[in-house]
Amino acid sequence: MNARDWDRLAAAYAAEVCDIFSRDRQNVIGRWLKSRGLLRHRRTVLDAGCGIGSFFRKYGRSFGQKTGTDHSRRMLQIAAARCRGLPDLTWQQADVQKLPPALRDSADLVVCSNVITFVSAAACRRALRETRRGAKPGGWLLFILPALESHDAIIALETGRPAPRRGATAIVRRDDRMQRFYTRTGARELANRAGLRAVSVQKVWYPWSDEGITRAPRGHEPPWDWLLTARR
Ligand SMILES: C[S@@+](CC[C@H](N)C(=O)[O-])C[C@H]1O[C@@H](n2cnc3c(N)ncnc32)[C@H](O)[C@@H]1O
Repeated sequence: MNARDWDRLAAAYAAEVCDIFSRDRQNVIGRWLKSRGLLRHRRTVLDAGCGIGSFFRKYGRSFGQKTGTDHSRRMLQIAAARCRGLPDLTWQQADVQKLPPALRDSADLVVCSNVITFVSAAACRRALRETRRGAKPGGWLLFILPALESHDAIIALETGRPAPRRGATAIVRRDDRMQRFYTRTGARELANRAGLRAVSVQKVWYPWSDEGITRAPRGHEPPWDWLLTARR
């Protein structure tokens, strides 16, 4: 999908507001940020592929200088409106696969949530390399990646058929678009290949209703995304 496609999706995306930052009911992300001391001392943060600014809406007040980038102008406009009043915040239109050199080595924390889902594996690796460059040496990176195991469990629940055998990642049709999903191993491999350190992968659960399932099925784990964290 290109920037124009995302421009067209922006209004619907804003209406749904099913971003992981507001749907993380168990506060896995908040606890991780706190445990790494990132919510103190007004740290600098870059959100690459910021969409409608949901990360800043939830956590922006705890940070110092904040930069949100996205290739979709429309997403940035909505983000700016939703985050009006937050201090020290700038927006920039930029491709996550080719971030402006001025953003290199700039952030104590780089966030990149549900962006590295490109069908092309090479594009995913490029985006990861670029986001890595955005962090200061020793800085932190926080990625949200769609979980293949979670997707397969929901399909198995809906169809009654067991999940197919999978590699570390797979291309899946979701919301009428093809996206790359990751197993836990696939997420870890992505980070390791980019030379990241202190790599950790954990689950961030979100409500069943986000998958269109109104009553939580007994004995089944809720759906989740991967929270992949690492240091440059
Ligand atoms: C699923 S949304 C996630 C938005 C936000 N990070 C969140 O978690 O709420 C994906 C976002 O990535 C942006 N995006 C996709 N490909 C991109 C690219 N090559 N460069 C910059 N942004 C991109 C889209 O415009 C969209 O805003």
